Amino acid sequence: MKTMDQKPPSSWPDVSHVPESYVHPLEKRPGKLFFDTCKTIPVVDLEGYYDQTHVVQDVLKATKEFGFFQLGLAFWNKICTKVINHGVSKKLMDDTMAVFKEFHAMRPEDKASECSKDPNRSCKFYTSSENFSKEEFHYWRDALTHPCHSLEEYMQFWPRKPIRYREVVKEYAVELKKLGEKILNLICEGLGLDTGYFSGGHSGDPVLLVNHYPPCPDPSLTLGLAKHRDPSLITILFQEQNGLQVCKGDEWILVEPVPHAFVINVGYVLQIISNGELKGAEHRAVTNSSVPRTSAAFFIYPSKDDLIEPAKALTNADNPPLYGSMQFKEFQRNYLSYAANAEKVQKFISSI
Ligand code: OGA
Ligand code: NI
Repeated sequence: MKTMDQKPPSSWPDVSHVPESYVHPLEKRPGKLFFDTCKTIPVVDLEGYYDQTHVVQDVLKATKEFGFFQLGLAFWNKICTKVINHGVSKKLMDDTMAVFKEFHAMRPEDKASECSKDPNRSCKFYTSSENFSKEEFHYWRDALTHPCHSLEEYMQFWPRKPIRYREVVKEYAVELKKLGEKILNLICEGLGLDTGYFSGGHSGDPVLLVNHYPPCPDPSLTLGLAKHRDPSLITILFQEQNGLQVCKGDEWILVEPVPHAFVINVGYVLQIISNGELKGAEHRAVTNSSVPRTSAAFFIYPSKDDLIEPAKALTNADNPPLYGSMQFKEFQRNYLSYAANAEKVQKFISSI
């Protein structure tokens, strides 16, 4: 039994019970699975953000609703935000989600072979996490990930099946990069940084991660994704079904999908550059017993050699830098070695 449990379930739909190695310790289980749906995160019409009055109104509303008493960037602070009117066409979003679902509907062997062309394994397919063999217990998900920058270099490693994958996902990647720039420029404005501060190396290496959570016979026993904060500048998530939860205080809030909206959340890199002014929220994914769920996270990462440190314009004698500087690849190596444990990552970034 144990040996069978060590293997990723190669055929999820046939799984009729949660294998022992996917059952999480009691204190890590999702707890209650039904949530007060009134408590969800604010929705922002991005167009409104070109009008300062709306910005202030939205910020105030969100601040009151969520108990933050800080003005200015409180809205972006600590909580992820759903963005509508973002400029990415509904058709492109639908086509993209369709190819992602088609990909995950393929046979596990085909998914793995479609993602095994890259000798450096930056394009890959895995079950649970990248550390499957070393995990104490596993997560109920499959994942496909690949870089979305330097397309001439990396696209040859992207899946070739489904047949439209490369064509559709390339267009999606281009549009999401533009959306990322738009959002980052709003953040610049709010923080008082020069427009374009995040362009170039700070946002040079976006990566796509397509999560697939098969229906789970008992969602109370396991998680799709452990609680974590993202190691990105910001993350732009596309989801169509319930499953994402954000931690607010000591409560988990369901992030109810709004059709064709994106969920934006702040990652550690933005926390460092903003000198702690902006802080991401811990989040996780729960499973459900009836339908598969697919979500696509577009992580805006700095280039590997980019130096990340608090922006000089945001620090002075009264507000000294809370973090030192390091290359992004060093941050990433540490993040991975702490298995995304929030306390350990926080300790690490505060120690540099
Ligand atoms: C992630 C993530 C949430 C989801 O991939 O980092 O938080 O709903 N995903 O799949
Ligand atoms: Ni995340």
